[in-house]
Amino acid sequence: MADTTAGADGDQVFRLTYRSRLRVPPHDRKAELGAIFSTARSKNTKSGITGALLVWEDQVVQTLEGDETAVRELYDVIERDPRHDRVEMLGTGTAARVFGRWSMARVTEDGEPDIPLLMNKDKGGISPAAPRPTTAEQDAALDAMREQIRG
Ligand SMILES: Cc1cc2nc3c(=O)[nH]c(=O)nc-3n(C[C@H](O)[C@H](O)[C@H](O)COP(=O)(O)O)c2cc1C
Repeated sequence: MADTTAGADGDQVFRLTYRSRLRVPPHDRKAELGAIFSTARSKNTKSGITGALLVWEDQVVQTLEGDETAVRELYDVIERDPRHDRVEMLGTGTAARVFGRWSMARVTEDGEPDIPLLMNKDKGGISPAAPRPTTAEQDAALDAMREQIRG
């Protein structure tokens, strides 16, 4: 499910992170997020894009990584999507690909996440068993995204 051939961890890629506010009503959220992930995974695989999408209450933070032109083109499409608003770019840069395993990792509190959204993760303690372990680089990227989602 989460596997992708889009690229390998460690490749130098362009990375873009933004935040937004989900406008989908709570009772439609599960189905709508399912549709977003389904589209994202099939389209991102074709364009060599990988990343992670964090959803916490109505807050969204997404990281996209891949070829700069492909990532910027996708961001232009996502930015106009009426399912969210207040889309705000948080940063861009070149970095080693960290989400190579995921055409789009799902990081949420529910909806069968690839990576559980542990907002109060005790870094010194023992983490609950993850379905598949994350790498130190992924944990660092996800920690930054968790900080950003809190505003
Ligand atoms: C929060 C959010 C994240 C999204 N992430 C992606 C993504 O990673 N890849 C993608 O192709 N579409 C993503 N979409 C959907 C796009 O905005 C757009 O609906 C889709 O790419 C259109 O595909 P289509 O024209 O082939 O139907 C996202 C939408 C939202 C609201």
